[in-house]
Amino acid sequence: MASGPGRCIHRGIHALPCKDAAKHRPGDTIRAVDDADANAAERADCAEGYVEEIPYTYGYHPDLDPARMQAALRRAGIEPPEVATACELGYGQGLSLAIHAVAGRARWWGTDLLAAHAANVRALVAGTAARLEAADQPFAVFCARDDLPQFDFIGLYGVWSWVSEANRDCIVRFAARRLRPGGVLFVSYNALPGWAPMSPLRELLVAHAAAQPSAMPLAARIEAAMAHAGARVLRDAAWVEAHPGLEAEWRTIRHKDVAYLAHEFFNAAPVHRGSRARSPAGAWRSVSRRC
Ligand SMILES: C[S@@+](CC[C@H](N)C(=O)[O-])C[C@H]1O[C@@H](n2cnc3c(N)ncnc32)[C@H](O)[C@@H]1O
Repeated sequence: MASGPGRCIHRGIHALPCKDAAKHRPGDTIRAVDDADANAAERADCAEGYVEEIPYTYGYHPDLDPARMQAALRRAGIEPPEVATACELGYGQGLSLAIHAVAGRARWWGTDLLAAHAANVRALVAGTAARLEAADQPFAVFCARDDLPQFDFIGLYGVWSWVSEANRDCIVRFAARRLRPGGVLFVSYNALPGWAPMSPLRELLVAHAAAQPSAMPLAARIEAAMAHAGARVLRDAAWVEAHPGLEAEWRTIRHKDVAYLAHEFFNAAPVHRGSRARSPAGAWRSVSRRC
C-alpha cells in the first residue's frame, strides 16, 4: 500500500516490552547489529511465542524487489517513488534482502529475530558492494530505533499473519513513522477463506505437539504431530468429510521440510486471520485516523 504526500506521520512509540540492546558500529558498509548481551527472557518476550528453535527455509520473493514495485505501479498509472532507502522486516534467511541489496541501487536495512538468519544474510553479502545493515533485533527494538532513515520502500513477506497482535501494532507504527511520504509499504498476508481448510489440521498438529514432553526438541514434536495427523486423515473418514479441502491440504504439507512446518504452523499466535479490521490495510487506516 502506498502512503500519499500530506498524510500525517504517527510519531508515538508505545512502551516496549523489552530493552533496546542494539549496538551500532557507525561507518560500516555492511553493519552487523548484534545484541549478544540481550537477556534471553527479554528476547522471548519480544518474540511473543514466535518459533525460534528452528531456522526458516531459503526462499526468494520477487515481490520485495523495489524495481518490480515500480513496474507494477507504472502499469497501474501511478508514478512510483525513487527508492534510495529500503527496509525488509522479518527477512528470514535473507535471500531476497541479499539479492536486492547486491543487485539494486538502494541502501537496505532489515531485521529478523533469529541470529542464525542474520548470520546467513551477512555471509551472503560479505565481499560485495551491497550497502546493507542486517540487524537481528526483535521488531519492538528495531522499530524504536532513532538512528534509522526515512524509507522509500518497506517490505515484509510471510510475516504479518504469523506474529502477535503486539508485533503487528509495532510494524504499523514503524511504517507510519519511517515510511517517507510517497513511499510504498508492501505486506503479504494470509486471508480466510483460503486458509479455512487448513485450520482444523493446524489445531490438530499444535495440540499433538503441545501434548509431547516439553523436553522433546520441537523438530521431534513436529514429526510426531505429522505422523498423528497422517494416521487420522487415513482412518477418520468422518473428520475428513466434515472438513472439505482438508485432505488436499494434508497432501500439500505432508512432505514439507520441518523448518517450513515449524514457522508455518507452530507459532503461538493464531496463523490465519481474515477480517478486514485485522488486515494490514485495516490496521494502516486505523493508524492514519489516529494521526
Ligand atoms: C515465516 S518467516 C518468513 C521469512 C521470510 N520473510 C521469507 O518469506 O522467507 C517469518 C520471519 O519473521 C521473523 N520474525 C518473527 N517474529 C519476529 C519479531 N518479533 N521480530 C523480528 N523478526 C521476527 C522470523 O524470525 C522469521 O524469519
